[in-house]
Amino acid sequence: MKKVSIIYWSGTGNTEEMANLIAKGAQENGSEVKLIPVGNAKIEDVVNSDILLLGSPSMGSEIIEENEMEPFVESIKDSVKDKTVGLFGSYDWGDGEWMRNWVERMGSHGANIFEEGCIVNLFPEGEEANKCVDYGRRIAE
Ligand SMILES: Cc1cc2nc3c(=O)[nH]c(=O)nc-3n(C[C@H](O)[C@H](O)[C@H](O)COP(=O)(O)O)c2cc1C
Repeated sequence: MKKVSIIYWSGTGNTEEMANLIAKGAQENGSEVKLIPVGNAKIEDVVNSDILLLGSPSMGSEIIEENEMEPFVESIKDSVKDKTVGLFGSYDWGDGEWMRNWVERMGSHGANIFEEGCIVNLFPEGEEANKCVDYGRRIAE
């Protein structure tokens, strides 16, 4: 059974809903899933996972959330080498630049990024919700 840690930050619930949907997909594949708001996350949640998912909306000007997610991501940079990492998050008016930069950054730490991340405009509904479940299902295969 694969251990999946899903660590996320969400201000208004959109990225949180993505986390729940991704968890559902991974659980359908028989994985043991831990859903953890980044404020409660520990380095062990990263080290002990087979698959790591990190979620943050696009904030500031095309950056991940600065107060909690940014320092957490920096703190785990030596623990993601060769690990399968999925990145996800919600955005509004941008074109996904924050996700492209985040994918590149995690790749530079040696992580194996799954499919360039999963992004949704605002709240995941309909096909966008299915896309999240599917991302969780496939990353845990
Ligand atoms: C302070 C702030 C900065 C934001 N900056 C961006 C941005 O640069 N690009 C973008 O596409 N959306 C931006 N957004 C929109 C959020 O990414 C969007 O509302 C997202 O759905 C929020 O997700 P959440 O509900 O998980 O917090 C910003 C929102 C806030 C509150």
